[in-house]
Amino acid sequence: MKTITLGRTGLQVTEMGFGCGGPSRAGQSTGKTVAESVAVVRRALDAGVNFIDTSEAYGTEEIVGQAIRGLDRDALVLSTKKRAGPQITPQDVVDSLEASLKRMGTDYVDIYHLHAVVLENYEYLLAEIVPTMQRLREQGKLRYIAVSERGHADPQHAMLQRALDDDVWDVMMVGFNILNQSARERVFSRTIKKDIGVLVMFAVRRALSQPERLRANLEELIARGQLDPADLNMNDPLGFLVHEGGAVSLPDAAYRFCRYEPGTHVILSGTGNPAHLEANLASFERPPLPEADRRRLVHTFRRADSVAGN
Ligand SMILES: NC(=O)c1ccc[n+]([C@@H]2O[C@H](COP(=O)([O-])OP(=O)(O)OC[C@H]3O[C@@H](n4cnc5c(N)ncnc54)[C@H](OP(=O)(O)O)[C@@H]3O)[C@@H](O)[C@H]2O)c1
Repeated sequence: MKTITLGRTGLQVTEMGFGCGGPSRAGQSTGKTVAESVAVVRRALDAGVNFIDTSEAYGTEEIVGQAIRGLDRDALVLSTKKRAGPQITPQDVVDSLEASLKRMGTDYVDIYHLHAVVLENYEYLLAEIVPTMQRLREQGKLRYIAVSERGHADPQHAMLQRALDDDVWDVMMVGFNILNQSARERVFSRTIKKDIGVLVMFAVRRALSQPERLRANLEELIARGQLDPADLNMNDPLGFLVHEGGAVSLPDAAYRFCRYEPGTHVILSGTGNPAHLEANLASFERPPLPEADRRRLVHTFRRADSVAGN
């Protein structure tokens, strides 16, 4: 699997990262046993993926710990997160990181995020919590400091646009997909200049894996005047992407669309279904979408910034 440098961290990461949250939580939200979830994460690692994202909030850190047991820790890039509301204290962060390390069976995390931050909490977290993260970095318990946005509450990226004014963030987790490409101008144009590592969430999520959720997202965009229904055949709105020489499925199109977007590094992909994992691994071996298809997506969704793809 192809690797890329994660911005100024210098970490060599695979372009596909295994995400242990999202609607699947490695299968823990879709009825899989812990052993099945461990096996799917381990299969991703055996197939060459070196990046795993989780969070204290997902309930999957132990699954990650079991999946990486016996592997060369230094060859892996582990990313986890601290839930970050206005009520958290510096001591909470110290305790949370310690607990995350214990659950994953490791003594350092590569990327530690403040999780799902919204603009109204940003100044507090920057002033009161980031110094503690910097101290934890000096102690070797984390290597790089990151922030993730709360996609469904902030699809316009207000928090990340504010965070880009500061120089403390090595990595950002950004919502980006076919239906909401607003990060291109608002976030990636600046992360590229600052050499910040970018992890993409929401590449597929529900809207691009469940036809009824796609329809609901499109109807919302039409109702808000952000999508012209004349630009799509509403009976099969994104079906034009699947053809000989194009995408093999909508999730395939969604991953390839994100992967080749300038400024993105790791595209997160989550599943608890072994067949979906194999399909997604194959997507990351494929070339960009045909340029005519990509241009049509950019044009069709040029005004869309109100849905996260849920
Ligand atoms: N604010 C934050 O910090 C935040 C928020 C959300 C997510 N994240 C991170 O981003 C990662 C990605 O999450 P996401 O929300 O973007 O969700 P995602 O991983 O894109 O979700 C994919 C969904 O589609 C299904 N799926 C996967 N591959 C498929 C395929 N080939 N065909 C059909 N269905 C398929 C999965 O369920 P099956 O199990 O059925 O395959 C899952 O329900 C998370 O795991 C997490 O690490 C972070």
